[in-house]
Amino acid sequence: MRIVWSKVLLFAACLIPVAMLAWDVWRALAGDLEALGADPGEAIVHRLGEWGIRLLLATLSVSSIARLVKRPGLIRYRRMVGLFAFAYVAMHFAAYFGILAGAELAALLADLGKRPYIIAGGGALLILLPLALTSTRAAQRRLKKNWRRLHRLVYLAAALAVLHIAWLAKVSYVDAYIYGAFTLLLLGERVYHWMRSKQRARQAT
Ligand code: HEM
Repeated sequence: MRIVWSKVLLFAACLIPVAMLAWDVWRALAGDLEALGADPGEAIVHRLGEWGIRLLLATLSVSSIARLVKRPGLIRYRRMVGLFAFAYVAMHFAAYFGILAGAELAALLADLGKRPYIIAGGGALLILLPLALTSTRAAQRRLKKNWRRLHRLVYLAAALAVLHIAWLAKVSYVDAYIYGAFTLLLLGERVYHWMRSKQRARQAT
């Protein structure tokens, strides 16, 4: 019962950023110029992207935190956070396409040539899509060992997302450095854990 409630709370928490954005869109539509700033379209794309990368890194953190605090049960929350990360990135893309590209495929294709950072972001989105689609237990059973291999690609998605953010940075690289350092830290922890498990397995034989 406690698990159900904690999942409900986590679900509600993950909805807060989009609910706050919806509120600001409502205020902007009502004429409040402060709600989304001078360029509301850019602000919407930006905020959804920010939450996309934050939740993506939060998803990667779950297993490291579970190991650190020795609470393997925390893993049960990873799928929900990961699906929300995908949802925010998908909304980020939809907002970019609908607002900044004017829902025109030609504009998207022209942007791919003009703004290479969109290729990096698009690559990350294309990797996250099959991961979201195979996040069910049934897919996990069906794919067996390949499921783990496939889901390791989440690190590549995170690296591409960081590249996307660094590439489009205009004024400061601070965000890109923070997200990049965090991704490397989590990857390092994962490699360390993998090496230790291998060493233990060798010692046991
Ligand atoms: C995992 C995938 C992605 C993540 C995590 C992500 C994240 C972000 C973040 C955090 C920003 C704001 C960066 C800053 O200004 O400091 C941003 C901006 C942007 N992203 Fe993405 N993005 C992703 C994929 C995409 C895709 C697929 C597209 C379009 C095809 C896209 C288009 C843009 C554009 C146009 C901006 C600039 C918005 C502006 O002018 O401020 N992104 N993205």
